[in-house]
Amino acid sequence: MELVVQSLSADYTHALGYNLGKVLRGGDVVCLSGDLGAGKTALAKGIGEALAVQEPMTSPTFTFQIEYAGMAKDKPVRLIHMDLYRLRYPEEVEIIGVEDVFQEDAICLIEWPGIAEDILPDDSLTIRIEGSGEEPRLIGFSSQGEAWAERLKDSMLFEDQEDL
Ligand SMILES: Nc1ncnc2c1ncn2[C@@H]1O[C@H](COP(=O)(O)OP(=O)(O)OP(=O)(O)O)[C@@H](O)[C@H]1O
Ligand SMILES: [Mg+2]
Repeated sequence: MELVVQSLSADYTHALGYNLGKVLRGGDVVCLSGDLGAGKTALAKGIGEALAVQEPMTSPTFTFQIEYAGMAKDKPVRLIHMDLYRLRYPEEVEIIGVEDVFQEDAICLIEWPGIAEDILPDDSLTIRIEGSGEEPRLIGFSSQGEAWAERLKDSMLFEDQEDL
């Protein structure tokens, strides 16, 4: 599956995250790629809002991982937001325990997932954001197989593109 949408503002990227968040459930792993300042955390915050996370979400750049309590379709879920930017060696991925968070009661968002690519589940969703600064963003959604295509269709992610 491969889909691309355009985002002309941080608010729109947040709204895309919100719509995506509404179709997420425990066990999902979402990888967020793109340059520094692309909008990965902006999108993650939209997901957190959709999952009724009450605390303000901050960037886990220095802590690697922050866990929030959320709700997905009226069921409690853990939202685990990771940022692997500062990792240099795959061994560190193991030490931090990235694999341990892939649990059925957790939705996992991973910024800078490259270093962990060998352990990412086959059914994860990858979001790649191109552009930075005040440039428009092209936001690509890709996955192995077509299951995510069905779910994204249900998310209204691709409606209202003309209203950007
Ligand atoms: N269309 C857009 N989508 C997302 N962010 C945008 C857009 N246009 C401008 N911005 C700005 O770009 C910045 C994105 O910052 P954000 O922290 O989300 O990036 P990031 O990809 O998480 O970076 P990092 O790799 O440092 O964690 C924000 O300041 C936001 O206001
Ligand atoms: Mg970030």
